[in-house]
Amino acid sequence: METPILNPYRPGAGHAPPYLAGREQEIENFAKLLDQRIIIKNCIVTGLRGVGKTVLLDEFKTVAIREEWLWTGNEISESVALTEGRLCTRIMADLSMVTSGLSIKKIKEEAIGFTPNETGTDIFLNHKNIEFLFQDAPGLESDKLKYILEYAWQQIKQNMPQIKGLIFAYDEAQSLSDYEKNKTYALTMLLDVFQSIQRKGIPFMLLLCGLPTLQAKLIESRTYSERMFTVLLLHKLSDKDSRLAITKPIEQENCPIRFNEISINLIIKTSGGYPYFIQFICKETFDVFLQQHSISKELGVPIDSIMLKLDDEFFAGRWAIITDRQRELLWVIAHLENCEEEFTVQEIVSESKKYQITAFGGSQVNQMLSSLTANGLIFKNRFGKYSFAVPQLNEFILRQNTNRQ
Ligand SMILES: Nc1ncnc2c1ncn2[C@@H]1O[C@H](COP(=O)(O)OP(=O)(O)OP(=O)(O)O)[C@@H](O)[C@H]1O
Ligand SMILES: [Mg+2]
Repeated sequence: METPILNPYRPGAGHAPPYLAGREQEIENFAKLLDQRIIIKNCIVTGLRGVGKTVLLDEFKTVAIREEWLWTGNEISESVALTEGRLCTRIMADLSMVTSGLSIKKIKEEAIGFTPNETGTDIFLNHKNIEFLFQDAPGLESDKLKYILEYAWQQIKQNMPQIKGLIFAYDEAQSLSDYEKNKTYALTMLLDVFQSIQRKGIPFMLLLCGLPTLQAKLIESRTYSERMFTVLLLHKLSDKDSRLAITKPIEQENCPIRFNEISINLIIKTSGGYPYFIQFICKETFDVFLQQHSISKELGVPIDSIMLKLDDEFFAGRWAIITDRQRELLWVIAHLENCEEEFTVQEIVSESKKYQITAFGGSQVNQMLSSLTANGLIFKNRFGKYSFAVPQLNEFILRQNTNRQ
């Protein structure tokens, strides 16, 4: 029986690409951070939606484990406002993922309250026992957490002397916040706790990954965080790397289908080098070519229909959740010459006067930009300027409104 030809491309949040193009420099920079014995620099991975942060994090994990680091962490969920208490619970749960196999039976009188395992002899540093230690430790929540982390490192060192350190990796970390209103300061606490234990020589490293708002948020929370992190800002792929992202997957799989030069160049141009768009366009193109591959003439990429599908699957959901007035504001921004880089409130206000719409005032724009930031469409950089958080959003907007004005 003939084996079916599988489509090798993987458009999808966090789906490992068939070939990870570019990013050698970022991997090298991350590997350097692993050489630290005393942690001075932690790591931020940031970039626009779909640029490849999550899959790079997976690659970092492989590198870290190879270098004998432990790795734990997860995605920060947007829906729950993280209080200090929840953050502690979270970190302890993450810690227990890597320590629950460690036997701590030799720890004298503290052991009395611990829950022994089934055999009744060994006591493990599992979640339950970490919670117990936490409750029992003196001081504020942050003191308790520091104590737990210090204690865990002693145990790791004793049980696994080859281990160089532990990485706490959090994806979608732009959702981490302090909430003045509720007087909860989870982000500040996270930074303080890690800075404090790192000063004591405990090699626990923070790796925060998320949209570019992340960096501004950290600095806002604690000015020293600027010195605490190395920032890896992921850009779109160069033309050379885009080409590899397009061609390698079919070469690796020995697919009977090949993209010709014209198709490759069109995909590079249309995708703008954004990894998600590359995967998406290639997957669609591959399917079309596969169906028509018995026809012996050269095939072209049906780019218009692919873009319509991309609008539906990638952009439409983000567009649907905002109000008409917010769409109008984004439409104005999409007309700015510099909309693909950064723009200011003043530029938007002046641009809005050129069209037959109710013009926008400065404070209104300010306010709307912050709700659009919360929706993940816009971000404010550390110099107070704004950018689109979604690549090619301007082109999508103009595609939606071609008959306006
Ligand atoms: N270097 C790369 N080479 C080829 N494809 C890539 C590369 N990086 C990411 N991709 C592909 O791009 C898509 C998006 O990747 P990923 O989910 O990691 O992006 P992200 O930055 O985490 O997005 P989001 O901000 O939405 O979480 C995936 O389909 C992935 O396979
Ligand atoms: Mg991601």
